[in-house]
Amino acid sequence: MKKIGVLTSGGDCSGMNAAIRSTVRTALTKGLEVVGIRQGFVGLLDKLYFSMDSKSVSNILQHAGTILQTARCEEFKFERGQKQAVRTIEELGIDGLVIIGGNGSLTGALALHHQGIKVIGIPATIDNDLFGTDMAIGVDTALNTIVTAIDIIRDTASSHDRAFIIEVMGRESGYLALMAAIASGAEAAIIPEVPCDLEKIAQHLLERYKAGKTNSLIIVAEGASSAYTIERKLKGSIGYETRITVLGHIQRGGVTTVFDRLLASNFGMLAVKALLDGKSGEMTVLQGNNYSTISLEEVISKKKKITPELLELAKSLSS
Ligand code: F6P
Repeated sequence: MKKIGVLTSGGDCSGMNAAIRSTVRTALTKGLEVVGIRQGFVGLLDKLYFSMDSKSVSNILQHAGTILQTARCEEFKFERGQKQAVRTIEELGIDGLVIIGGNGSLTGALALHHQGIKVIGIPATIDNDLFGTDMAIGVDTALNTIVTAIDIIRDTASSHDRAFIIEVMGRESGYLALMAAIASGAEAAIIPEVPCDLEKIAQHLLERYKAGKTNSLIIVAEGASSAYTIERKLKGSIGYETRITVLGHIQRGGVTTVFDRLLASNFGMLAVKALLDGKSGEMTVLQGNNYSTISLEEVISKKKKITPELLELAKSLSS
């Protein structure tokens, strides 16, 4: 292996830059050349690339976003697009590729592996919905942003006797909503993994109102419902006045937390080492305190579950 490529794909998240930096610097240390591919798989189709040196990744460790830019690429979902990408990779003389992204991006990584390209994936998505790794890059920073916002909302909610319905990201996953609810002391979390008993929530909030609690907060994962729908159904039956906050894309930016910097740095090094060890079709994972790689086939075919312990914790703390 002489030359590797690196790209970021799908939705961005804080920590992607830290992963790029670690990938590039590890590769250079090992005597490899590095090519940065711009805009994810689009860059492989449209030949958007540049040669990277140590200076290309200076002063990016702490910044959200991705210096390589990212995109969701429809064309790449089809074999024609994948074959075109393979041609670019061969033309550039790239012997191995590091792909940093979420579910869709790693499905693309697996497709390239099946086309004979040596690929290692790095999990990066605020949703934390990838099987096999306790944490993906970006989750910790997003959670810190969410909890900071909820703390601020609690200040104003309690001044007015209001219930806030706060919508957080998580297309198919309630991880962010549940963890944020636990960490902010919210009264309820509505997540796609668990059927929602809105009547029970309404009753709980009404009891709190009658008991003189000055505010109540409900965190909704976008994959379960919209905050507007929940508000419409609760309004008038819980005592409190209601207000809505949709946190949106502020959850994807922000100064990368120490946890995410360390996670991304470890993953970057591990990915390059895996390529040098001749591995392909694998993803870097953190399981407990251990870093390793597991097969992308397994990651893509299995669904990550919310543990019963987490649900129990959320339930008992919100009562
Ligand atoms: O997958 C990450 C994620 O942030 C989801 O939580 C969210 O639904 C989606 O991306 C938003 O995507 P976009 O930035 O394309 O609107």
